[in-house]
Amino acid sequence: MATILTLAGDGIGPEIMTQAIDVLQAVNKKFTLNLTFESGLIGGTAIDATGEPLPEETLSRARAADAVLLGAVGGPKWDTIERSKRPERGLLKIRSELGLFANLRVAKLYPQLANASSIKAEIISGLDLLIVRELTGGIYFGEPRGIRTLDNGEQQGYNTMVYKTSEIERIGKVAFDLAQVRAKASGKPAKICSVDKANVLEVTELWKQTMTKMQESQYSDVALSHMYADNACMQLIRDPKQFDVMVTGNMFGDILSDEAAMLTGSIGMLPSASLDEEGKGMYEPCHGSAPDIAGQDKANPLATILSVAMMLRYTFKQEQAAQAIEQAVSDVLDDGLRTVDILDSSEADLRQVGCQEMGQAVLAKLV
Ligand code: NAD
Ligand code: IPM
Ligand code: MN
Repeated sequence: MATILTLAGDGIGPEIMTQAIDVLQAVNKKFTLNLTFESGLIGGTAIDATGEPLPEETLSRARAADAVLLGAVGGPKWDTIERSKRPERGLLKIRSELGLFANLRVAKLYPQLANASSIKAEIISGLDLLIVRELTGGIYFGEPRGIRTLDNGEQQGYNTMVYKTSEIERIGKVAFDLAQVRAKASGKPAKICSVDKANVLEVTELWKQTMTKMQESQYSDVALSHMYADNACMQLIRDPKQFDVMVTGNMFGDILSDEAAMLTGSIGMLPSASLDEEGKGMYEPCHGSAPDIAGQDKANPLATILSVAMMLRYTFKQEQAAQAIEQAVSDVLDDGLRTVDILDSSEADLRQVGCQEMGQAVLAKLV
């Protein structure tokens, strides 16, 4: 018996979560996984109910659960309250408190969506890219941080970007190990691109040196390249298939993964796993709470549904169940169903559907 804590959060969070839970329950039954479900509060809805973006109760339930499934947090309603009390702080805190330092963001193009991306089909066809983002350090957590008043009365905002060797090594290990696993599965040579800004920032110079040392001492079978973050953003659009695994820090990884999302057709397609050192994890779509479409049944639930597949793969080692979900998503796309974000209006035989219909169509493939 294993317990999953679901945290729907804000905006489109509850809509996509309802669909993802339905799919997970179907797979639970089909593969006799013995999963039980609990739900909890996080983000703006938690602030409204308790005054805190991550109530103690949610945190202790998350610690006790075998895995967490998160929708999204945030929205304009909470954008002006004191920063330490905002929804996003709840998300950062749960990642940090659970030690979820490794964020795996998979940008895989479903061939049915080759024309849904704003990038030419030939540039993205066959794309299967893994971004390994460090998630509990870097500029997101570095101290000191704040807004201070200078002697002349002017205000100054400041943050600190810091990484210790041990933090770089542990995320490096995840990336190198996964590059090896992927190479084994694909039959292609293992390769990693480490993304930094070592030409300007000392913290990423240490990052680069540490990755190089790891490759030389432990991973001679993995080809390591380095790229500055600005060039990496450009190369991701110019020729994304040059990459297999990209490894980078918290902020660069955040930015690169939203960019990579568009290579798959939509941010609504990008799942992620946020893992600790034992492989326990929280699973979350890469997108946010999309306040502009919340409550309108327009959100694409597939990133969350595919995050469920990652949960089954990484935490529960249920590869068959994970693949069943991925196949069901593919089948539904074959049937021509599209939420508006992945709709290519030049293709005649596609049918626009809402969040609920998309989720239920995936479910129907699994029962
Ligand atoms: P966003 O990802 O919420 O939305 C960006 C754009 O993508 C919007 O036009 C939105 O409609 C669209 N979009 C996002 N997810 C979609 C989906 N599943 N289906 C279809 N379209 C989708 O980013 P934002 O607008 O910069 O941020 C909105 C709020 O979400 C902010 O409060 C932000 O802090 C928060 N946020 C939370 C998370 C998270 O919880 N993991 C991630 C990113 C942003
Ligand atoms: C994400 C989000 C979060 C991040 C925010 C909401 C804290 O953008 O999960 O990508 O920056 O990590
Ligand atoms: Mn982000």
